[in-house]
Amino acid sequence: MSGAAGSPDFFYREAQRLGYVARSAFKLLQMQKQYKLITPGSSVLDLGCAPGAWLQVACQSLGPLQKGGAVVGIDLKKVKVPSMHCDARVQTVCADVMSLPKDQIRALSPKQKGFSVILSDMCPLVSGIRARDAALSAELGMRTLELAVGEAGLVQADDSIEQKEQSDVSGSDPEHRGILLPGGHLVVKLLESEDVKDFSHICKPLFKKAARLRPKATRSCSREIYLICQGLLSLKK
Ligand SMILES: C[S@@+](CC[C@H](N)C(=O)[O-])C[C@H]1O[C@@H](n2cnc3c(N)ncnc32)[C@H](O)[C@@H]1O
Repeated sequence: MSGAAGSPDFFYREAQRLGYVARSAFKLLQMQKQYKLITPGSSVLDLGCAPGAWLQVACQSLGPLQKGGAVVGIDLKKVKVPSMHCDARVQTVCADVMSLPKDQIRALSPKQKGFSVILSDMCPLVSGIRARDAALSAELGMRTLELAVGEAGLVQADDSIEQKEQSDVSGSDPEHRGILLPGGHLVVKLLESEDVKDFSHICKPLFKKAARLRPKATRSCSREIYLICQGLLSLKK
């Protein structure tokens, strides 16, 4: 049983065998297989990137070096870019995503234009108090969404806001705009709670498609779930 898919250490062993720095690599590999989020030339922002397994899968998904593309990872911890599966297109920054200004993150993207894929695998230090952990995870998720679509996007998602107010916030102020490019994709990790439903509700009108995924490599005791949003729609003018 020790080598079978589904046994506790199967993904850990597979990660070691294939040169990934963590079993979490298989979560992004499954997303790639099902949704093809990262393609050659993509510009990828990986929030909560330590120890670097998603950096590895993201860089592999860019294809050969000459196809271009970029992967920028941010984490509270300092992350050395893994030597395996990564190349010169990968860079990491040590910072708190909750407080790093949006324009500083945008400045890390190719030509400072923004990213075509934003991934967040961020999670708080789990306390074991369910409600508290879910609330902290939702805060990280909301920050990711606000970075991606900007205040303008969040206002647009709120059906109750009048048209006039929508056009006010989608003006030229870059702080109000998000750093996810139109047509771009967003992946956000959340812990199962009522917040997941609310979160899907906010995301659905902003993207062509939104789905939830619990990857096979998720530990059975974990309540994590990923919201996968594809194809950011352009903001109404
Ligand atoms: C599950 S790990 C990510 C694993 C990573 N995707 C990989 O495959 O190697 C979650 C990470 O989120 C980071 N994190 C949590 N809160 C953060 C914050 N506010 N800013 C930046 N990183 C954060 C943690 O430091 C931790 O390294």
